[in-house]
Amino acid sequence: MAIIEAKKLTKIFGNDPKRAIPLMDQGWSKEKILAETKLTVGVNQAEFTIEAGQIFVIMGLSGSGKSTLVRLLNRLIEPTSGQLLFEGKDVMKMSAEELRTFRRRNVGMVFQKFALFPHRTVIQNVEYGLEVQGINKKKRREMAMQSLELVGLKGWENSYPDQLSGGMQQRVGLARGLANDPDVLLMDEAFSALDPLIRKDMQDELLELQSKMKKTIVFITHDLDEALRIGDQIALMKDGSIVQIGTPEEILMQPANKYVERFVEDVDLSKVLTASHVMEKAETITLDKGPRVALQFMKEHGVSSLYVVDKSMKLLGLVTAEDASGAVKDGSTLQDIMVTDVPTTSPDSLLNELFELMGNIRLPVAVINESGRLKGVVIKGAVLAALAGNSDMEAGAQHESA
Ligand SMILES: Nc1ncnc2c1ncn2[C@@H]1O[C@H](COP(=O)(O)OP(=O)(O)OP(=O)(O)O)[C@@H](O)[C@H]1O
Ligand SMILES: [Mg+2]
Repeated sequence: MAIIEAKKLTKIFGNDPKRAIPLMDQGWSKEKILAETKLTVGVNQAEFTIEAGQIFVIMGLSGSGKSTLVRLLNRLIEPTSGQLLFEGKDVMKMSAEELRTFRRRNVGMVFQKFALFPHRTVIQNVEYGLEVQGINKKKRREMAMQSLELVGLKGWENSYPDQLSGGMQQRVGLARGLANDPDVLLMDEAFSALDPLIRKDMQDELLELQSKMKKTIVFITHDLDEALRIGDQIALMKDGSIVQIGTPEEILMQPANKYVERFVEDVDLSKVLTASHVMEKAETITLDKGPRVALQFMKEHGVSSLYVVDKSMKLLGLVTAEDASGAVKDGSTLQDIMVTDVPTTSPDSLLNELFELMGNIRLPVAVINESGRLKGVVIKGAVLAALAGNSDMEAGAQHESA
């Protein structure tokens, strides 16, 4: 379900800003509009839909309009024109009172600068927003503790911010954002001030939080690796316009134009693409079937082995065509011939890890989630093809820009 919908959402800075709209329609560049009219295009007719539960990443170089766009989403910046819907409701038509409620309940914000109060303890910082809302002390303490626990800071509640590392302070900022329990969390370069290792930890943490809490997150970054790592959808901005919106694979494999191509050309796909990106549908069979049926399935699907699963798709093992024909002859069952020592991997393991794993084995690799359910299968060819896609793309981009 769409939680946020933007239609031609536009912000122009300067006097009488609407003047710039017909010029943008005529295709004037941001540079030209500034030179001729002194107006700055912040966001140019952005169109996108954010689905509930998604991590929607806004990426782009400095000055491309990321912060402006995210501030339009909670009307910290008033749009010059266009439409903004939250769960189908027109945000532009909200009264001052409705807007306050909207900001309190529906959209929360986490900033790059942690902006923690130095004289308040960690827990007091986290419950600040709840205090402002007039929630009673017992209740807000409870809510704040919960969100501190979520970000892994239980035990630190009575410390002061300056007793915490930068990464921990950022977590307090995140906990404060989460404590209000908004439907959408807006995060503007929230991890940019962190050093690379802590930053990666925070990304992992965010992904884990996301899988637990199913929050909708709008995440701004100018870092492509970060965008690819955490984004379900990525919107790439240039000069106030969105040049492409897509999944990480789409951005990488089908760049919309040369700008996007150049933006992604140095990406090492083996460190970005995961098993879930390259896996194929796994052909399966359940244990109540016999070897003859197994052979028939293999023939139908053109495969030489089948994964054995239970009714809930939990992976039990693998049967090969060779063993199945043997079983037909000597009367053994699938259970008898099933191999249980099957190579597996998780959906988010990276291609470079997979590649290493596959170097030593003959079998395809089964992709299973944390509860052991079979999600797909990775075959060596698919990994190679995905990696080759990159070198082709790079060669093409270099060729065209040369
Ligand atoms: N209050 C303002 N008044 C005038 N121009 C502004 C204002 N805020 C932003 N701009 C302009 O709007 C454009 C987009 O700025 P914005 O801050 O959204 O970029 P950004 O992508 O967030 O950049 P960064 O990565 O540096 O944070 C820039 O050209 C900027 O100069
Ligand atoms: Mg910014």
